[in-house]
Amino acid sequence: MKCRVCRGKAVIAVRRHNANFCRSHFLEHVRRQVERTIDDYKMFGSDDRLVLGVSGGKDSLALWDILTGLGYRVDGVYLHLGIGEYSSESLTLSQRFALTRNLRLEVVDLTVEYGFAVPEAAAASHRTPCSACGLSKRYSLNKVAAERGYDVLVMGHNLDDEAATLFSNVLGWNVEYLGRQHPVLPSTEDGLCKKVKPLIRVAERETAAYAILAGIDYEVEECPMAAGNTINRYKEWLNRLEEQSPGIKANFLFGFLERGSPLFEVSDDIALRICSNCGQPTTGDVCAFCRLQQVTISRRQDG
Ligand code: FES
Ligand code: ZN
Ligand code: ZN
Repeated sequence: MKCRVCRGKAVIAVRRHNANFCRSHFLEHVRRQVERTIDDYKMFGSDDRLVLGVSGGKDSLALWDILTGLGYRVDGVYLHLGIGEYSSESLTLSQRFALTRNLRLEVVDLTVEYGFAVPEAAAASHRTPCSACGLSKRYSLNKVAAERGYDVLVMGHNLDDEAATLFSNVLGWNVEYLGRQHPVLPSTEDGLCKKVKPLIRVAERETAAYAILAGIDYEVEECPMAAGNTINRYKEWLNRLEEQSPGIKANFLFGFLERGSPLFEVSDDIALRICSNCGQPTTGDVCAFCRLQQVTISRRQDG
């Protein structure tokens, strides 16, 4: 197996690009994929102040490495979810990454800041852990980005994440979510920071390979609360299809973004209001995050 670029010994095959790469040309290939995504979707420019949602996993740390390598100035924000050893280890790895590269990482602790952790919130609200976790991440990362005056909130979702989410939204015909599934969500006057996903052209196994080949020490354990999670099951199914038809996952996602997504565009008429509890944007009176917080704390007091 020879590298497509230098004909040296290849270490990885990327079947959907019909190409094999040596270590350095694979790293280069992934960086180019990210660069192209940033340009194609006009995600940000070199003057923008960027903040990246950092989890300590392969995707966010690989993306941090790539963006700083491309010359962008990117701070990180880590949300401590209160999931036992998994959270403390991921935090240590994130801090070590930031420290050794002289990068700024802000840590938000859900328990300290909001008085609850993800496992308790999931049980109290009868949500799945991933749904309580996703809501908490969306809320608190946006809050940090908006309050600290960042121009763009950068997220490390990869091709597999986005294709599986799209698959899930199509199976359920969640048209509202389909309308919002885009690699760039613009900022709004009521407090939503611009949000972008520059890793969507890179598959999960490729971000893992990038992290390993670039010598990044990341949290290899899966989140213990994600076991049996539907999105993970869809990822497995899509990967089975991908094995038989390389490229099908990327075609599904990018075909949707190019040709399907305009059909689901959300109208600007959905006026966002201000949550009466926290002042963050919401469609109702109290935002979903504040409701999650209230139900968790009141269950604790009742129980
Ligand atoms: Fe969100 Fe595990 S990381 S539930
Ligand atoms: Zn090579
Ligand atoms: Zn609120």
